[in-house]
Amino acid sequence: MTREPVERFGVSISQRLLRRFDKVLREKGYGNRSEAIRDLIRDYLVEEEWRGSKAEVVGCVVLVYDHHVHGISERLTETQHQYKNIISSMHVHLDEENCLEVLVIRGVADEVKRITDALISARGVKHGKLVMTGKVD
Ligand code: NI
Repeated sequence: MTREPVERFGVSISQRLLRRFDKVLREKGYGNRSEAIRDLIRDYLVEEEWRGSKAEVVGCVVLVYDHHVHGISERLTETQHQYKNIISSMHVHLDEENCLEVLVIRGVADEVKRITDALISARGVKHGKLVMTGKVD
C-alpha cells in the first residue's frame, strides 16, 4: 500500500485560542493537534459538500420536547409517518416533563434537512440537533 503524500503547514493563532483548543483536545483524548485538525477539516468538507447537493446521506436527529405541550407527540408521530425516509426511531422518557427522541433519516441532504426543520420547528420542541453523515473518504 502506498502512503498518500503528507504536507505540513504552519498556522498563526492567538495563544488564548490555542490554549482553549488544547484543553478540549486533552479532554477528548486526542494524542496530538494534527489528528484533531484533520478531523475538523474532514467534518468541514463533508458539511460543505452536502450543502445544496443531491448526495445520499444519513441524518441523526435528536429532539428534546415537553410532552405536556398539547398535540406535540401527535405532531411528531404524524411527521414521522408522513416521511418514509425516517428509518428508525428511539424514544426515551427523560423525566416527568421531557421526552428525548432520536430519529434516523435517510435521503438526499436537502430532504433530510427539510424533514429535520419540520421536526425542530414544532411547538414544544426545546432542543434539536442534526448530525449528517454518510460515505466519508
Ligand atoms: Ni416520553
